[in-house]
Amino acid sequence: MTTAWQVREAVPSDAAGIVAHIRRIADEPNNGISISSATEFKFTEVDEVEIIKKYAESDNRLMLVAEVEKAIIGVANCRGSDGGYSHTLSFGITVNRDWRDRGVGTAMLRYMIDWCRANPVVHRLELWVFPDNVRAIHVYEKLGFQHEGNRRASFLKDGEFRDLLLMGMVFER
Ligand SMILES: CC(C)(COP(=O)(O)OP(=O)(O)OC[C@H]1O[C@@H](n2cnc3c(N)ncnc32)[C@H](O)[C@@H]1OP(=O)(O)O)[C@@H](O)C(=O)NCCC(=O)NCCS
Repeated sequence: MTTAWQVREAVPSDAAGIVAHIRRIADEPNNGISISSATEFKFTEVDEVEIIKKYAESDNRLMLVAEVEKAIIGVANCRGSDGGYSHTLSFGITVNRDWRDRGVGTAMLRYMIDWCRANPVVHRLELWVFPDNVRAIHVYEKLGFQHEGNRRASFLKDGEFRDLLLMGMVFER
């Protein structure tokens, strides 16, 4: 029997679980995300409470968690900035290593895409991904994100200048 997990919007009491989740993934080798160790993740639980509140109050930000038996096993967030970019939301997503390849990432992104589609403020959802992150790229392609470019040697990670692929989805209304 598999344990049931669920996807929902983050609330302030998730802060400690989110911080622990991100730190755990940050310490994984070849983790696919922008930081390479837990010490690079500067936000404390107190900071995270304020971040979650700010997301909940904003019309162009969404923070999701996947949880199982009160434990956070996934986090996905998207946010727009100001002015002409307020309709363009960039997202990040992480799933606990023990829970990958079970549909958690897909479920969080489906929730996010549905939320964006139903939100008149949002016109575009985008992400940057390392070219060797084939699992993530597979999920993004499956959900309809299109390849839009390669920002060559743009990101310094583990002493190496890495390419970043841009993928995006536009919500035509
Ligand atoms: C990328 C990530 C968010 C995906 O979440 P997930 O819960 O593992 O994804 P899902 O289980 O929903 O889907 C995984 C899919 O990738 C496929 N997959 C797994 N390994 C693969 C590989 N090496 N090549 C191609 N596809 C692969 C699975 O078969 C599955 O496909 P399907 O849905 O068509 O059956 C998660 O693996 C993760 O957190 N990775 C580390 C952090 C990261 O890379 N974040 C993204 C940064 S851009």
